[in-house]
Amino acid sequence: MTLRQAHDARVDGLPGGGYAGPARHVAIIMDGNGRWAKKRLLPRAVGHKRGVDAVREVVRAARHMGLEALTLYAFSSENWKRPEDEISDLMGLLRAFIRSDIDEFAANDVRLKVIGDYKGLPADIVTLIEDALARTAHNTRTTLAIALNYGSQQEIARAAAAAAAKGDVTVAAIEAELDTADLPPLDLLIRTSGEVRLSNFLLWQAAYAEMWFTDVLWPDFTPGHLREALEHYATRERRYGGR
Ligand code: IPE
Ligand code: IPE
Ligand code: MG
Repeated sequence: MTLRQAHDARVDGLPGGGYAGPARHVAIIMDGNGRWAKKRLLPRAVGHKRGVDAVREVVRAARHMGLEALTLYAFSSENWKRPEDEISDLMGLLRAFIRSDIDEFAANDVRLKVIGDYKGLPADIVTLIEDALARTAHNTRTTLAIALNYGSQQEIARAAAAAAAKGDVTVAAIEAELDTADLPPLDLLIRTSGEVRLSNFLLWQAAYAEMWFTDVLWPDFTPGHLREALEHYATRERRYGGR
C-alpha cells in the first residue's frame, strides 16, 4: 500500500480538484449599510432599508441564475451589541420583509431556510419565520438561507455537542449537525464593503470555499455584481490540497 492509499483509507475524502464551473451555493456577508447612509448624510435606518431592496433583487437574480442555495448574513449573534434603536429598526425591516416577500418565494419555488438561533428573536418574528418556513418547505428550485442571530462558533459548538451525544465526533458527524447540513457545499463566499474578515460567519463551511471581497457597499450591490463574482468563480481552479 502506498503512503497515499494508507492516508485515504483513514480520512473522509474531499472532492477532486479542477475548474470550478457554475457555483451551487453562494453566501454573502452583506456589509456596508451604515457607511452607505453616512456617505449620503442619511440615517443608518435608510441604509438598512436600501439593503433590503438589494436583498430582494439579489434573491431574484440567484433564482434566475440557477443557484441551488444562497445564504445571506442578515443579523449576527454579535449584532446585539448595537444600540437598541438600530436593533429595533433591523427587526422592523425583517418583519416587513418576511410579510411582503413570502408570497413571491412561495410562488417561485424558493424554499426559505433560517440558520442561527432564530428563536432568540422577538416572539412575533419567530412566528412569522415558522409560518414562512412551513409555507415554502416543499419548494426545490432555490434555497434562500437567512442567517439570523447566527454565530459560526456557536453553531460548531452545538454541532460538536450533538455529534458527541451520539458518540461519533468525526468531521462527517459534526458536519451533519451543522445548520447547513441540507445545503450543497459552500462554493463562494462574498463580502461587500471592503472589510476582509469573516465576522463569525460559516467558519467551518468556508474551509475550501472561494472568497470574493468587493468594496461595493451592500445597498449598491446589484445582480450584475453577483454575476461578476460568479463568472470569476467559474474560472477558479479548486485544488483541495491536491495539485
Ligand atoms: C450590514 O451593514 C448590516 C448588518 C450588520 C445588519 P452595517 O450596519 O454593518 O454597515 P457598516 O458596516 O456600519 O457600514
Ligand atoms: C457582519 O457584519 C454581520 C452581518 C453582515 C449581518 P458586521 O458589520 O456586524 O461585522 P464587523 O463587526 O464589522 O466585523
Ligand atoms: Mg458592518
